[in-house]
Amino acid sequence: NRVIKYCMAGFGNVGVRFTRLLLEKSVELAAVYGCEMCLTAVCTRSKGTLMNPNGLNLEKVLAMNEKLGRFDEADPSFVRCDTKTMIEEADAELLIELTTLSIDDGEPAASYIKEALDRGMHVITANKGPEAWRFDEIDALAKEKGRMFLYETIVMDGTPIFNLVKETLRSNKIFGIKGILNGTTNFILGELEKGGTYEEAIKEAQRRQLAEADPSMDVEGWDGAAKICALANILMKAKTNPRQAQVESVAKIGCGDIEAAREKGCRIKYICRAEPDVENSGVRLSVRPELLPLNDPLANVNGTSAAITLYTDLAGEISIVQTDPGILQTAYGLYSDLLTLIKDTK
Ligand code: HSE
Repeated sequence: NRVIKYCMAGFGNVGVRFTRLLLEKSVELAAVYGCEMCLTAVCTRSKGTLMNPNGLNLEKVLAMNEKLGRFDEADPSFVRCDTKTMIEEADAELLIELTTLSIDDGEPAASYIKEALDRGMHVITANKGPEAWRFDEIDALAKEKGRMFLYETIVMDGTPIFNLVKETLRSNKIFGIKGILNGTTNFILGELEKGGTYEEAIKEAQRRQLAEADPSMDVEGWDGAAKICALANILMKAKTNPRQAQVESVAKIGCGDIEAAREKGCRIKYICRAEPDVENSGVRLSVRPELLPLNDPLANVNGTSAAITLYTDLAGEISIVQTDPGILQTAYGLYSDLLTLIKDTK
């Protein structure tokens, strides 16, 4: 069997669920894909670093994390080092990058990814900041180094949006994208429609591990801006960043607006858009509450669900709904990237 040595930056909800999934899939990985995964290092800001070139025991790492909420300093694999040092020193051919979203510049994730690619590692990330801010640069570096840079889970988790366009919709030009890309705010709008409050809805989204660590990222539109920006940079070859998006907070919507929408036979949805900007020969991005007529495929996307409409030249208009995703769907997005990596590399 091929042994893939990997290291992980970040070990929060997503990292833990991905690690569990690897354990659950170890028989499939060996029998169907001829692969065995070997974690040689894992690092987080708050839990410390574990490193062992011969491989860490995943069950033990999970148990330590569950019991202490951090890695055990008394463990022989415990090392005092930061993420950059871990990437430099880990004996690994793959970095799984799971640090939290930074909306200002995609850092430090972008630097971690570049460091790993520079060192000849492949990278799988769940972080949309680097694609929103520095996609061209990172993609060019990956190509130069002949390494894979994979990010399927950054938008709608394991729902294959990037793979769909790259693998199946070959030769299509994507000339527009419209989406409900943030589950937290879709949930909030649904709760407001039912007479609930912002505060309760945000708390519930946090309880479901859906809201960002800082929920204002969701409510103020920056998570959506990063996602539509990443989509535009990757699928429409835009050269833009989240600060160029026109972003309006969902918090400006009150009961009166919801009632007025209902009277018009519409619903208010928090819509992310990427459209051609004819004047500036670029792509215009927006994230804002919009009135959708009920026959729009996105109008009936409820709860914490997400949805996207792609406007293509050959395949026409395609809409995909992801119903009430959970953390397993995020972990699956990473796993699907791993399977891509296994298929396309030796
Ligand atoms: N906070 C995000 C959301 C998580 O609510 O959609 C998924 O990226």
